[in-house]
Amino acid sequence: MNSLGKQLPEQSIECSDYALFGRWLTEWVGDTWGQVVEIPNRPDVEDWETDFDHLHNDYSADPYSIWKDMREGGCPVAHTERFHGVYLPTRHEDISAIAHDTEHFSSKAVVINDLPAADIGTFRMPPITSDPPDHQDHRRALLPAFSPKAIEKWVPITRGICNELLDQFADNGYCDASADYAQHIPVKVIARMIGIPEEDGDLFRQWIHDLLEVGPSDLNISQQVTSEVFAYFGEYLKERRAAPGDDIVTYLIETEVDGAPMDDRQILGGLFLLLFAGIDTTWSSIGSSLLHLGQNAGDRMRLATDDSAFDAAVEEFLRFYSPVTMSRVITEEVEISGTTLCPGERILLPFPSANRDTEFMEDAETFKIDREVNRHSAFGLGIHRCLGSNLARMEIKVALEEWVRRIPEFELTDPNLVSWSGGQVRGPRNIPLRW
Ligand code: HEM
Repeated sequence: MNSLGKQLPEQSIECSDYALFGRWLTEWVGDTWGQVVEIPNRPDVEDWETDFDHLHNDYSADPYSIWKDMREGGCPVAHTERFHGVYLPTRHEDISAIAHDTEHFSSKAVVINDLPAADIGTFRMPPITSDPPDHQDHRRALLPAFSPKAIEKWVPITRGICNELLDQFADNGYCDASADYAQHIPVKVIARMIGIPEEDGDLFRQWIHDLLEVGPSDLNISQQVTSEVFAYFGEYLKERRAAPGDDIVTYLIETEVDGAPMDDRQILGGLFLLLFAGIDTTWSSIGSSLLHLGQNAGDRMRLATDDSAFDAAVEEFLRFYSPVTMSRVITEEVEISGTTLCPGERILLPFPSANRDTEFMEDAETFKIDREVNRHSAFGLGIHRCLGSNLARMEIKVALEEWVRRIPEFELTDPNLVSWSGGQVRGPRNIPLRW
């Protein structure tokens, strides 16, 4: 039985990594889901250039000033002994060079937490954890499902989802734009793409809650929920093998990698990747866009009065409030901006810092809703560039269009009530708005 009293199937695959994987996920997605959960702060940072901690509350609250000081203050590559040794480049040029260099940098561990790289890397989620030459085949398997054409059919469905959510609070005059709106949109869209039955939605949300809110402080819950998720999807996979449908699971079953069908483990790894790469990332972007509009009446008016302004605005929201920092494992000694990087240690790729580098982009520290040339790296750079970018852009645009159409005038009630997630995906988790 699971926590909702539903009978779950026996585990259909062997996986010794449940505990590790649960912890991996909880650290990847940060520390909050919907509600703010108090977690103990990390040891104080004496010097951000030699002892930084990307999980520290001060970093979550305002990483931009830390990155700016490093970028412009003569420390383009910081280092910390924490997390078994990690580097932090902050200039666009260096971040781009590393993201394009698969010879010296591996993706086998894309999250940095207290676990050693070797442990984190035991669970694979291709293609994000794949290196060349395997990466190309793993990526190619998923690409068609996320092409602009394939995403078109999800526009009306996403519009429907947004309006169902708006129906619940539009007449109230207030809401939490993160908890009541942004966080639900990607979950519901992805669940529909996977083909999860409507009645299992609560189960799915319960897992996310247990994994992301309870799991960080209770490894047993993390382990139990992860094994439930594997059991559920393992069973769902069996059903889809017997009775194919029009969903991503059927698509993955029918897709070949290296000339052979994917096995259960590969498909489940791919499903997990879609769930967890596509949810809090997009939710963070929708949330920070609404937070910005709640504080900047001119930009809000612009969108409320000009339908053609959304495309450029979405790109600027993505650039200015980029949510994702990735990481790599250093496989061979290499020099970046005068710093020799030590093999075996890891390196963060803060794409949000690259996007505010004034050496790369004019006025990078100013939000311009009409920015014409916007070569941002919110979706990464190089071979791992986001595979879900068409879906993400569509969800952000539709979410904002529907909100502004139904609630054209709104404002933030109190900036002190806004909270931010920590970890490698940064977004506002509480956005109290009124209208
Ligand atoms: C605003 C929303 C999103 C942002 C900012 C974002 C950001 C990123 C970034 C920075 C990477 C590069 C990873 C690396 O260099 O290691 C990436 C990769 C990836 N993203 Fe997204 N993402 C978003 C939404 C999505 C969605 C909706 C999906 C699918 C449901 C998705 C699926 C993926 C996948 C599968 C990869 C791995 C691609 C590869 O390794 O070849 N993402 N994303």
